[in-house]
Amino acid sequence: MSKLKSGKVAIIGCGFVGSASAFALMQSGLFTEMVLLDANHQKAEGEAEDIVHGIPFGRPMQIYAGDYDDIADAAIIVITAGANQKPDETRLDLVNKNIAIFQSIIPEITKRDFEGILLIVANPVDILTYTAQKLSGYPEKRVIGSGTVLDSARLKYHLGQHLGVDSRSVHAFIVGEHGDSEIAAWSSANISGIPLDNFCEMRGHYNHMEATERIAAEVKQSAYEIISKKGATYYGIAMSVKRICEAIIRDEKSILPISTMLHGEYGISDVVLSLPCIVGRDGYETKVPIDLDQEEVSKLHESANTLKEVLSKFFAEN
Ligand SMILES: NC(=O)c1ccc[n+]([C@@H]2O[C@H](COP(=O)([O-])OP(=O)(O)OC[C@H]3O[C@@H](n4cnc5c(N)ncnc54)[C@H](O)[C@@H]3O)[C@@H](O)[C@H]2O)c1
Repeated sequence: MSKLKSGKVAIIGCGFVGSASAFALMQSGLFTEMVLLDANHQKAEGEAEDIVHGIPFGRPMQIYAGDYDDIADAAIIVITAGANQKPDETRLDLVNKNIAIFQSIIPEITKRDFEGILLIVANPVDILTYTAQKLSGYPEKRVIGSGTVLDSARLKYHLGQHLGVDSRSVHAFIVGEHGDSEIAAWSSANISGIPLDNFCEMRGHYNHMEATERIAAEVKQSAYEIISKKGATYYGIAMSVKRICEAIIRDEKSILPISTMLHGEYGISDVVLSLPCIVGRDGYETKVPIDLDQEEVSKLHESANTLKEVLSKFFAEN
């Protein structure tokens, strides 16, 4: 019989991102038990002790700092452990440090027969999701990355602001790497079914090229901008983590641009990057082949090649 507890989540890494995600998950009402684990156990304890004081304003749940034996029966393990970007560092600059951290974390999970979903958040998230899949040997559907869920939220937010419309009515994806080679998939963007350019004109905006270039650049630069001002980003990703957990736990079959392994989609294989996927109880069910134009497909290939180069360089040197 499966030991998996569907109401239990674990977070490995309780820095800015892990603790903000824990706070968002506490408020979500999705789980009845949450375990926080960090190399610095005191930090995990402090976060747990602080977050539990919000429970009287939310719903009853157990929240505590634990170790690997405590997390083996979780439905989802969220991994945010790892160095974050310093000002002017790219996500790909983190690769050596954070793969080494994953080489210590993943075997601790696999040796305890974990049966749930691994949700990778630490950066570079595509490379680390690939690494977690290879190290764990778990079915690919159970090892997913938060990918461009955050970047797509940033895109929806900025488009919503530009058009004076609720960002939840904006349907648009960032695809590819969660990083500098990411692509705004403009050709499929729409506002509640109305093609983007038509909606822009309805709202009095006619300079499409200038606006799309500016908004895509704002989205891509967001993390650098925020990190230069406050040292880290964590609220947006915490809400993204909550959204992905919600889709899994409630078996929503929501379409979210998470990172998964590619097997020939748009002619790309053996690399993990973000494309819209149906997300539910088993992790991801299938990818959703949105229309991309020729230029977007060729940028997706460039993004995949960037990630493949990083992977082959790392594995050649180690
Ligand atoms: N995917 C996204 O969209 C997104 C967004 C923001 C940040 N991030 C990434 O999330 C990661 C965490 O960022 P942060 O700002 O919280 O960093 P942080 O430095 O505040 O926290 C990292 C935590 O990981 C812990 N840790 C390190 N090695 C560990 C190990 N082996 N086992 C358990 N815990 C360990 C540290 O003790 C620390 O508490 C970074 O890689 C960052 O780039 C991802």
